[in-house]
Amino acid sequence: MKSLAKAFFTPLALSASLMASMPASAHSHGHEGHSDELNTEMKKMGFNFKRSGSAKTIEDMQSYVTEFRAHAKNARETGYTDAPEAFRKGIDQLLTGLAGVQAALDKQDLDLAKRRMKKLNDIRKKYHREFDV
Ligand code: HEM
Repeated sequence: MKSLAKAFFTPLALSASLMASMPASAHSHGHEGHSDELNTEMKKMGFNFKRSGSAKTIEDMQSYVTEFRAHAKNARETGYTDAPEAFRKGIDQLLTGLAGVQAALDKQDLDLAKRRMKKLNDIRKKYHREFDV
């Protein structure tokens, strides 16, 4: 029984140790160009975009916009291997639009900031459609 158990479990232990020694990139990826890092940054953008819609004060709106911008910049750094040029162009459009949001915040115009932020959804839709997200 002892040797039978050993014969049964050894291949399992071997494959487990092989898995453990594999780099994360060899078994945690979806399809080409869709990095976990980009997905994480996009989700954080989404979180801040969503809550910016119900910001009640300039201070709250500023903090959501600041976070959104940081994650958009991280996404730009991470890149998108399926369409690197188009991706950078889209993120740059987003950052340009965000500068308009910031300008509204700088003049203490919360409503204008929120309206301009909402408009960024058009850029999201355009590129998500283009990249089939
Ligand atoms: C308001 C602006 C945006 C928001 C709130 C946003 C949000 C998101 C969210 C939540 C996801 C994850 C989807 C999921 O896993 O179900 C995602 C994915 C993605 N987004 Fe955006 N996005 C925005 C703009 C953009 C722009 C401008 C581009 C391209 C230039 C872009 C490119 C992508 C790509 C390539 C993915 C797929 C990432 C992956 O999972 O591999 N997004 N986005």
